[in-house]
Amino acid sequence: MNEGVVGSVITTGLSGLVGSKFEQLFSDKYSFDRMDASSKENPIDITNFSQVMEVFQKSSAKSVVHLAAYTNVTGAWEQTDDKTGPAYLVNVEGTKNIVRACEETGKHLIHVSTAYVFNGENDGLYLETDSMSPIEWYGQTKAWAEEVVSSSKTPWTIFRIDQPFRSDSFPKVDVVHKIINGLNEGTLYPQFTDHFFGPTFIDDFAKVIDWSIRTQTTGLFHASSGEKWSDFDFSTLIKETHGLNGEVKAGMLSDYLKTLVRPYQRNTALNSEKLRSALDFSLLPISEAIKLVK
Ligand SMILES: NC(=O)c1ccc[n+]([C@@H]2O[C@H](COP(=O)([O-])OP(=O)(O)OC[C@H]3O[C@@H](n4cnc5c(N)ncnc54)[C@H](OP(=O)(O)O)[C@@H]3O)[C@@H](O)[C@H]2O)c1
Repeated sequence: MNEGVVGSVITTGLSGLVGSKFEQLFSDKYSFDRMDASSKENPIDITNFSQVMEVFQKSSAKSVVHLAAYTNVTGAWEQTDDKTGPAYLVNVEGTKNIVRACEETGKHLIHVSTAYVFNGENDGLYLETDSMSPIEWYGQTKAWAEEVVSSSKTPWTIFRIDQPFRSDSFPKVDVVHKIINGLNEGTLYPQFTDHFFGPTFIDDFAKVIDWSIRTQTTGLFHASSGEKWSDFDFSTLIKETHGLNGEVKAGMLSDYLKTLVRPYQRNTALNSEKLRSALDFSLLPISEAIKLVK
């Protein structure tokens, strides 16, 4: 272990958009017992319980950060009702395996979920007490995964996030970098004035994960910014903050939906008061977070 490392943490999904930022910011503090499907040296498929259990048995970690998921929403839609498809297998069966391994080894599970567990019909901000109501297969599989976690005997924490973006660019392009690229290249689609979401600044969310490891706080938390933005206003904020030249044109989700087969949540903004009042640091307002994006 490096000097300064306080302990080990078992991780899944550390190579992804969200996980790799947590790794970047906290590799001086934690050593990672990682389970990566794409690892060349030691690939671990979370849908395989014996592979998962081998990592758990060798690890002294008290906490498990579970970020791995099948995250392609359109790809998941094409697998609707298919319980042999990767969306169901990774999100539900994979999570069952992580939960079972946590229960057998007495570890704290930190599970990352999504605002897509809601149908998007709320006008305001979703609360943790609102019932899950998924309308497409990705959201459905993530909702089942939450049920597996929240009914388990292991200590658990669930964080729901929405439209995560990070300060630096990453191969899987996040919502903010897509808008910046679209404005710079003149390819930005019309931005909906009637679609709303609650962006999540991944650099801050990495600190939220660290907080849950060090405080062992359990329960369900909405971990987005707690703000509600339309696509149009969000793109305009990015354009103005970064002084970009491209034009933000207005569009309507209601028109777009006429051309789309899969359902689309109209509003996924989350109320994050519960988390904010528990944290021992502050989350940046979105207007400040956008200034940090490179
Ligand atoms: N991105 C979003 O817009 C968004 C929004 C809300 C919530 N979330 C949630 O946030 C979490 C992280 O999302 P992300 O966008 O960072 O994910 P991502 O970039 O798509 O990466 C997915 C991760 O899952 C791992 N994985 C997939 N199948 C696996 C398997 N069978 N065994 C082991 N690992 C497997 C991948 O590992 P390899 O690279 O090694 O294959 C990768 O690290 C997920 O739980 C997601 O549902 C994401």
